[in-house]
Amino acid sequence: RKGCKLVGCGSAVPSLSVSNDDLSKIVDTSDEWISVRTGIRNRRQKMESLHPLYILSSLFHRGPVWRFLLTIALTGKESLKNLAVEAARKALEMADFDPNDLDLILMCTSTPEDIFGSAPQIQRELGCRNSPLAYDITAACSGFVLGLISAASHIRGGGFCNVLVIGADGLSRFVDWTDRGTCILFGDAAGAVLVQACDAEEDGLLSFDLHSDGEGGRHLGAPINDNETDELLGSNGSALDFPPKKSSYSCIQMNGKEVFRFAVRCVPQSIESALEKAGLVSGNVDWLLLHQANQRIIDAVATRLDFPQEKVISNLANYGNTSAASIPLALDEAVRSGKVKPGHTIAAAGFGAGLTWGSAIIRW
Ligand code: ACO
Repeated sequence: RKGCKLVGCGSAVPSLSVSNDDLSKIVDTSDEWISVRTGIRNRRQKMESLHPLYILSSLFHRGPVWRFLLTIALTGKESLKNLAVEAARKALEMADFDPNDLDLILMCTSTPEDIFGSAPQIQRELGCRNSPLAYDITAACSGFVLGLISAASHIRGGGFCNVLVIGADGLSRFVDWTDRGTCILFGDAAGAVLVQACDAEEDGLLSFDLHSDGEGGRHLGAPINDNETDELLGSNGSALDFPPKKSSYSCIQMNGKEVFRFAVRCVPQSIESALEKAGLVSGNVDWLLLHQANQRIIDAVATRLDFPQEKVISNLANYGNTSAASIPLALDEAVRSGKVKPGHTIAAAGFGAGLTWGSAIIRW
């Protein structure tokens, strides 16, 4: 059986930083409430995703207008696609890899800028001349882990050799900016890794464990608004639902307490199962890298699995919950800062809407 290893990583975030104090100007909240309950202090947001109230409050509280206009000018092109391309280029650069040699691009996102998917546009922007396959994977905050396992399966069973896995989300566009229970949580970002075929002895994906629970899906979602059908009358006077009206999605709706309970129950089980398949225990693992949703979830999972704080990777305070981007973003920072070194073992786990969750034991 072929092995596969991670050979490069990269990430990109929008330049606009939104602090807890900034948010307290538009909803009834405080820096203290947000940091104590979530661990989040800042998040990055694409300019276009901001509520007009925030833009107004920035004008009044952030100093000169020229600085505000400059921010808009600099951040105007921060589409999700551009962030994903920037993260991808950095990952390819780290691996000293030519984009023309890619065979597959997996874009893990729940917020594509086109409902038919973003991956082929990323392939185009990267200038891959040999038309590699590129498609999107939707699995919310578990998307990146699922993308990684899909990359490995394509390599091991499908004859692919060089797979770019991108996790990118712009959830702040789907937030209700009057709901203080959710609008404080999310940030926008992109992260990427290059996964390559290798000899079985060098394998860098030691094991995995993936699950979903549609029953629990009611606790977290942003469903399509299906009550917008025009009532047209047919020639016989009966109601017709044709042509249908343009669709739109509702904002993120979440039962935070249920999602919290689900995460602290299922994530440790999943990591334990992946560790067992790899023949490891938590003491053999160098780093615990969870989807960055809430510091209290990260701490609870670490305690349950006996991971000391110094083995836990967390950058949630600076970026908030960036959904499918959070794991590759935190991984990239940890690799570039020298925390994660070649040969280190990482227990990574994603969890979120669906509900979906899963773990991967990675050797960097
Ligand atoms: N500021 C001040 N008060 C607030 C805020 C806020 N931002 N948000 C809620 N409150 C209030 C509530 O109104 C409530 O007040 P009340 O007691 O007067 O009714 C009180 O604080 C408690 O509210 P809860 O919702 O019970 O607060 P909780 O302790 O559960 O914390 C939180 C909420 C932070 C969202 C938490 O439940 C959580 O992190 N859950 C997990 C979310 C998560 O991990 N999501 C990941 C998946 S995301 C994805 O897949 C897309």
